[in-house]
Amino acid sequence: MSSPTQEQVQQSLEKLQDPETGRTLKKQIIEVTVDSSDINVKIGLTSFALPIKDSFRKEVTDHLQKEFSGTSATVEIVDYVRPATPKGQIGLKAKAVIAVAAGKGGVGKSTAATTLAMGLKRAGCSVGLLDADVYGPSLPHLTGTRGQVTKGDNGKIIPLDAEGIPVMSIGYMIPPGEAVIWRGPMLHSAVTTFVRDTDWGELDYLIIDMPPGTGDIALSLSQLLPLTGAVIVCTPQEVALIDAIKAVGMFRKVKIPVLGVIENMSSFICPDNGKSYDIFGKGGAKEYAQQDNIAFLGEIPINIQMRERGDAGKMNDNFDDPNIAPYLESVARELVKTLVANAKANPVQVQLPVLG
Ligand SMILES: Nc1ncnc2c1ncn2[C@@H]1O[C@H](COP(=O)(O)OP(=O)(O)OP(=O)(O)O)[C@@H](O)[C@H]1O
Ligand SMILES: [Mg+2]
Repeated sequence: MSSPTQEQVQQSLEKLQDPETGRTLKKQIIEVTVDSSDINVKIGLTSFALPIKDSFRKEVTDHLQKEFSGTSATVEIVDYVRPATPKGQIGLKAKAVIAVAAGKGGVGKSTAATTLAMGLKRAGCSVGLLDADVYGPSLPHLTGTRGQVTKGDNGKIIPLDAEGIPVMSIGYMIPPGEAVIWRGPMLHSAVTTFVRDTDWGELDYLIIDMPPGTGDIALSLSQLLPLTGAVIVCTPQEVALIDAIKAVGMFRKVKIPVLGVIENMSSFICPDNGKSYDIFGKGGAKEYAQQDNIAFLGEIPINIQMRERGDAGKMNDNFDDPNIAPYLESVARELVKTLVANAKANPVQVQLPVLG
């Protein structure tokens, strides 16, 4: 075909959806140039969607090549800033609030929450990490953040910093090793302090590490602000799967969408011979997720170094380990893909100013 006009390319790009909101890309088309059969476009992408930057660039390139066959398209992705709309009555400035939970203790919730937060952060998103496990807080340990929190000039608690991720935990408010006995109302006020009275700044994602059992805290959280959804962690064992199914039921009961399932400790890769052993079995979580129409976000193998890095508060180092990094990066990317698919199916409504 003859080369398209700049206007034709512009109009064609407007048919595409912004991954974050599902609305038209229109405002994010920064530049379009056409030089005979070469199309060059510059598209803005928010930091929220950076984990899927490569597949988004491919989507735009493929779209242009399909619409204008015989041309070559070069797509450059640049930063686009869209502030978060404050969430709930407490006005938390986060685009997505995600609870990482399981029906069972010790399956790797805190590990998954930490690696999700770090994976998103490394991809360029702004991320906060909240430890809602008031009984057995693990995040100070896993993120290597120790100390007591202080209050800023605005009266809000300043979270601790784990390589650019603000982290808040009850562990920064009580002496280490001290047990806290919680009663219902105290639990609610602790969660309120974590979410409302903490200076989170502007976040793309707030990742919440849930305690085992989850019922009360999930309810308290869902009363404070609309949760985007829950990610369920389970191991391949059948008993763990039964508990995971219970957890899914619990979240659905309190009307928190279940976004996906992560299978942790899926297999053991032997450091001596590189062979993979399915110690707890394999594939059950994936099968269940498919049956129940829940996204399967991927698996995390058992890895000795990962446990050691967790104990040493150096979880970020997992992302420099070629045996484990691809799994962790993929889980974070799949979560964003799921959120993007939801946004595209149900575009976020533009909030119009209230008149009169
Ligand atoms: N894939 C893995 N490979 C190796 N060790 C792991 C893996 N996942 C978790 N662990 C280790 O297992 C232990 C339990 O993990 P984690 O604390 O994340 O579980 P949890 O579900 O949050 O537990 P709890 O119910 O106590 O909150 C930790 O020592 C952690 O380092
Ligand atoms: Mg935990």
